Amino acid sequence: MKVLVVGSGGREHAIVRSVAESRRVDKIYCAPGNAGIGALAECVNIGAMEFDRLAAFAKEKEVDFAVIGMDDPLVGGIVDVFEAAGIRVFGPRKNAAILEGSKAFAKDLMKKYNIPTAAYENFTDPAEALRYLETARFPIVLKADGLALGKGVLICGSLEEAKEGVRTIMEDRKFGDAGSRMVVEEFMTGREVSVLSFADGKTVKIMSSAQDHKRAKDGDQGLNTGGMGTFSPSPFYTKEVDEYCRKHIYQATVDAMAAEGRPFTGVIFFGLMLTEEGPKVLEYNARFGDPEAQVVLPRMENDIMDVMEACVDGRLKEVELRFSDKAAVCVVLASDGYPVSYEKGFPIRGLERFDGKEDRFCFHAGTCEKDGRIVTNGGRVLGVTALGSDLKEARGLAYEAADWVEFDNRYMRSDIGKAIDEADGV
Ligand code: AMP
Ligand code: GLY
Repeated sequence: MKVLVVGSGGREHAIVRSVAESRRVDKIYCAPGNAGIGALAECVNIGAMEFDRLAAFAKEKEVDFAVIGMDDPLVGGIVDVFEAAGIRVFGPRKNAAILEGSKAFAKDLMKKYNIPTAAYENFTDPAEALRYLETARFPIVLKADGLALGKGVLICGSLEEAKEGVRTIMEDRKFGDAGSRMVVEEFMTGREVSVLSFADGKTVKIMSSAQDHKRAKDGDQGLNTGGMGTFSPSPFYTKEVDEYCRKHIYQATVDAMAAEGRPFTGVIFFGLMLTEEGPKVLEYNARFGDPEAQVVLPRMENDIMDVMEACVDGRLKEVELRFSDKAAVCVVLASDGYPVSYEKGFPIRGLERFDGKEDRFCFHAGTCEKDGRIVTNGGRVLGVTALGSDLKEARGLAYEAADWVEFDNRYMRSDIGKAIDEADGV
């Protein structure tokens, strides 16, 4: 079987690694890919938003199955273009990817179908938003409606900050058209958990839980980033939490989408907050998380092709997902200065130390080849994942392996998964 994966980050490297393990796959293309993906797949220099070129390439190479890793092409409708060209493709159509593409849509859906989430109001007029905020309780959360590279969420401690936030999102359009609508949401407190799932339009099957560390600095300080590290499973995702979410959130979401005439096929990422009143949905994503995929997929024991094909064929009900009892920790190696400004082009040394290792993986996020060497090419450069008998061991092994790799201006957090130690005995 020939498979095309669309995307170029650490998540796509993790997807490509899983696809490469499948018995049935003999050729993988990745567009546009990166230097690490290039060791497993043939990288193709076509951008993820060039839908027609990608579809033409897939037809020309007789690709049997395509996997879309990234949110932008999904929200933009790449799946519809591939389907129209007769290519089997894993991911939600445009009318379902809106679950991630519009926060206002997601909130209205949850309200209509009684799915637990924070109280909210949607606004298209900044003056109305300001009037509402005059009488609101603080802190309060402002969210640009559309995709904003994970940056369109502002937590405002006072009316002054909220006024500034409305200006940033709706008037100055700092996040572009994503700010033409805005959600104003109640501030919640609690632990965050990421739960990824497969869906086939009717059935949903939950993968093992994970937790992301979004802030740049130790102790969850500093700016929000795309994710500085992850661990899986989350010790906070207890049996009770799981039962509650199965009853009120997962199937309810898939049923709601089907009832709206927008059946969801692909990965639904449930961003949950475990509040005192029970788990609530913070956000939905329409794809694997990055860097959640880098800890969840190495623990999955199924052939990923079996699962993705079952989704596309509407027979996910027959699949039983299996996850290793081992825990996983992923430490992101970034370029110092990320997420604001950083340099690129530094040679990376030590990557060969991962060759042949079964329990350590080095997923490339921002790398490329220059003059025959692999060099840094982004803010997040690599994600080093280790499996261990428990989270503590996995964490030790991940940090050990992180030190195998060297490049100038290398930066990482030193406390990925540390919440685990605090939770010991909980
Ligand atoms: P989102 O893109 O919706 O996941 O938001 C990004 C981050 O903002 C989340 O991971 C939370 O840490 C935080 N956040 C979003 N919504 C809320 C909320 N209603 N209350 C508290 N924190 C929130
Ligand atoms: N790690 C969060 C995300 O992928 O959106």
